[in-house]
Amino acid sequence: MKLAFIGVGKVGFALANNFQKSGHEIIIAHDDVTSHSVLRAQERNPSFQAFPIQDAINRADVIFLATPFNSNETLLKPLDFGNKILVDCTNPVGAGISHGLESKISGAEKVQEWTSNAKVVKSHTIYGFENLENPVFPNYSVKPVMLISGNDVNSKATVNTLNADLGFETLDVGDLSQSLHLEHMTLLWVKMVRVNGHHPNFTWAYLER
Ligand SMILES: NC(=O)c1ccc[n+]([C@@H]2O[C@H](COP(=O)([O-])OP(=O)(O)OC[C@H]3O[C@@H](n4cnc5c(N)ncnc54)[C@H](OP(=O)(O)O)[C@@H]3O)[C@@H](O)[C@H]2O)c1
Repeated sequence: MKLAFIGVGKVGFALANNFQKSGHEIIIAHDDVTSHSVLRAQERNPSFQAFPIQDAINRADVIFLATPFNSNETLLKPLDFGNKILVDCTNPVGAGISHGLESKISGAEKVQEWTSNAKVVKSHTIYGFENLENPVFPNYSVKPVMLISGNDVNSKATVNTLNADLGFETLDVGDLSQSLHLEHMTLLWVKMVRVNGHHPNFTWAYLER
């Protein structure tokens, strides 16, 4: 598939690089195609092409959003997503690793509000970028689980397939309003690892009997 990435920093590059290695075509979406992060990503993976954001969206099958959450409203409102899937990898993080929207609504629902013609799926947010760079756990017979949420079943099925290409088992936790709970899982992971010293390569797994 053609995958466009708005944001190719720690999260965006890790995902884009692994998707490219698994056979997908990567387009970087940035209105300044000479920005430092775009050039750095192309230096690390010369197969990445860069286009202005709307052009990149028009060319892509699926778009990934991996920007600082505070950029999203201004960035997203003018864009036309043409009813394509927008995978929201962003997290609203507030002071002291709190929920940036005071837990009143999820960031993903705000992203949906700002992009009325995108099919938003929340994914790739419950871990730090380290597990997106390397999701392989060879000593275990289960795969790391990726929890996703969204309102459109077909879009979630596509994200499920893409996640499998990266090595994740996908668990669909429900509609987009469930994203609030995923964003709290993020805060838990971030506090455990970045504050309390847990290992950055630990993931959640889904076991069912
Ligand atoms: N870091 C983690 O471990 C982690 C894990 C899961 C989720 N997240 C979430 O993922 C998001 C990205 O985090 P990150 O750590 O990858 O951030 P980062 O390394 O700072 O990268 C941010 C990227 O967004 C781009 N960007 C910012 N404004 C833009 C705009 N208007 N148009 C196009 N691109 C724009 C930046 O490009 P330029 O600077 O070149 O403009 C850069 O490529 C955040 O919402 C974060 O909460 C982070």
